[in-house]
Amino acid sequence: MNNFVSMKAITADEIMYLLKQTDRFAEGELPKQEKDKKRFITNLFYEPSTRTKLSFEVAERKLGFEVIDFQVDYSSVRKGESVYDTAKTVISIGAEAIVIRHSLDNAVQKLAEQLDVPVINAGDGAGEHPTQSLLDIYTMYKEFGDLKGLNVLIVGDIIHSRVARSNAYALRTLGANVYLSSKPEWQDDRLDFPYVELDEAIEMCDVVMLLRIQSERHDQPKVVEANEYLNKYGLTIEREKRMKQNAIIMHPAPVNRDIEIDDQLVECKRSRIFKQMEYGVYARMAVLDYLLNKEGQENGDNYQTMYAHVNSY
Ligand code: NCD
Repeated sequence: MNNFVSMKAITADEIMYLLKQTDRFAEGELPKQEKDKKRFITNLFYEPSTRTKLSFEVAERKLGFEVIDFQVDYSSVRKGESVYDTAKTVISIGAEAIVIRHSLDNAVQKLAEQLDVPVINAGDGAGEHPTQSLLDIYTMYKEFGDLKGLNVLIVGDIIHSRVARSNAYALRTLGANVYLSSKPEWQDDRLDFPYVELDEAIEMCDVVMLLRIQSERHDQPKVVEANEYLNKYGLTIEREKRMKQNAIIMHPAPVNRDIEIDDQLVECKRSRIFKQMEYGVYARMAVLDYLLNKEGQENGDNYQTMYAHVNSY
């Protein structure tokens, strides 16, 4: 694995390795850093972001990297520079890796094929969002341990959601049962997972993962009537009461309160929404460390031990 762009082809062993590493970073471990050696990373965000961008920055700094500041609105992108030329520029001035979010599906995959430094997908259009998926899976792993046989219900704007896609692929790889639920026009036939009625599935799921309505990806954005959507397709208090005793609620955020989920449930006992954000830092540290500190890991005892453990999964 030289890049981290998709959850489709990643193996269960690789995911387990990254989960264990996430755990180590969550417990405060840090890789050895060479003193006096400055290393740089850049985050090219062509789409808005709060959580992903900031948690990548924190992850990079915790690992000892300097972050090259890039703001699309104040860059040569406004003079028409291509993604490729922008990436080549930041590599030329010292970036060892590119973290990128772009509105076009596949823009990131294409870039990864063109560059010889690691490329990390921070969300490409309605394509994939693999680090979000890793932090989501880590949240479930912390809660339930083994993911085999876990029932995960993903609810909302499936067809436009990169979060749904990456999670569905990775969860299947780990042996979880993935169910999808959405209004008919937001179903995605490219995803080969069963669609279920929210009211029927709510009682048998261990995880209810809600998705934000991706209005920015809709051809003709419609005003969503809050109550109407919530009552038909969202997580109401009445539905939450019917969830299994230990089931948890997740949402990648930003949340449209009272549309995808009742405002009162966002911070309820079952909700892991803010935990997900916290774990995002450690999951991103795991990915960056894997891609950028590989040599040290491959020769070091820690890596050997971790890998042995992963292989026995
Ligand atoms: C998600 C994204 O940007 O795809 N947000 C995130 O990264 N936490 C989900 C969303 O915006 O709906």
